[in-house]
Amino acid sequence: MWRPKMADEEQMSDRDRGAGADQEAVDEAVRERLYPRQPQPVSGAEQGGGAAAKGPDTGPRERRGVAFQTQEDIAFLGAKPVDNPAVQVLGVRKRLGGRWVLDGVTLELPDDTITVVLGPSGTGKSVLIKHIIGLMFPDEGRIIVRGKDVGQLPLPELLELRQRIGMLFQDGALFGSMSLYDNIAFPLRQHTDRSEAEIAQIVRERLTDVGLARYEDLYPSELSGGMRKRAGFARALAMEPDIVIFDEPDSGLDPVRTALLCELIKRMHATYGGAYMVVTHDIASARRIGEYIAILWRGKIVQAGTAEEMFASDHPFVRQFLRGSARGPLGMD
Ligand SMILES: Nc1ncnc2c1ncn2[C@@H]1O[C@H](COP(=O)(O)OP(=O)(O)OP(=O)(O)O)[C@@H](O)[C@H]1O
Ligand SMILES: [Mg+2]
Repeated sequence: MWRPKMADEEQMSDRDRGAGADQEAVDEAVRERLYPRQPQPVSGAEQGGGAAAKGPDTGPRERRGVAFQTQEDIAFLGAKPVDNPAVQVLGVRKRLGGRWVLDGVTLELPDDTITVVLGPSGTGKSVLIKHIIGLMFPDEGRIIVRGKDVGQLPLPELLELRQRIGMLFQDGALFGSMSLYDNIAFPLRQHTDRSEAEIAQIVRERLTDVGLARYEDLYPSELSGGMRKRAGFARALAMEPDIVIFDEPDSGLDPVRTALLCELIKRMHATYGGAYMVVTHDIASARRIGEYIAILWRGKIVQAGTAEEMFASDHPFVRQFLRGSARGPLGMD
């Protein structure tokens, strides 16, 4: 469905948008491809086939379901396609608090890989995560998780999809009134019909995985920051997710505990596999665990590539950011 530009978007100057007339034309082309202003399809034959023209008119939700996930499409949005993506963020824009926090983010997370999304504070990393898990929806663009368009899913399917994504929130987000054991048992009790004996086995396995087996009766307030992160990780893994997302797992930890947590993330990934997305502004963590690295700045992915490609990049912003240098396009603004 074509979305008209918002009035305040029209009024924004090129400078605000960080773009000139050429960029406007590109944006327009991207929108047209995402939300084609076609007349309603009547039948596949009349339209000459194609994803938007499947059979009789099935309503706007169906018509919007243009298959926008080919490698060609990704390249069209200015990003590099990856093999076997678990998550695709396609031309996503989101306006919050009067500005475009995400301003055309295109990113693919390769499956069975640890992807690190690096970006300065306040640049939209947590907002991007909320889009992937369907807590926020794009104003423009789409999010495809394991082939499903998150913005188009009916609520029951969205909830089902969320259960397949393990999430470690920025502050661990444990339930303060529950013991460690009950915190990790919670998603299993909530979303499965496993017996308490089966749940006990899974909870103890996960607690052993993260080195907290001896602490199952403690409450979150009795744990250190690092232990809380590990407990949050154990809970994120409880449902055996095939996508795990970490929001700043290293925030508030000292360098040694950060290094240990990175080792744990690598070990769990080696054991259980899946697509991991680690969002951080810590370059040392990115270096330790990042197999694929994307840099988010001012609402856009500046560059994404393998760790080797990124650390060898000659893009001025990427170089400055990865070297933690004061010299370059990134200032205090
Ligand atoms: N619900 C909201 N309403 C209005 N503005 C919001 C909302 N959520 C986030 N923002 C704004 O969006 C911007 C990006 O926020 P976000 O939390 O994604 O940053 P971040 O990159 O995760 O930063 P940090 O590294 O500090 O965690 C911020 O300027 C924030 O104020
Ligand atoms: Mg954040």
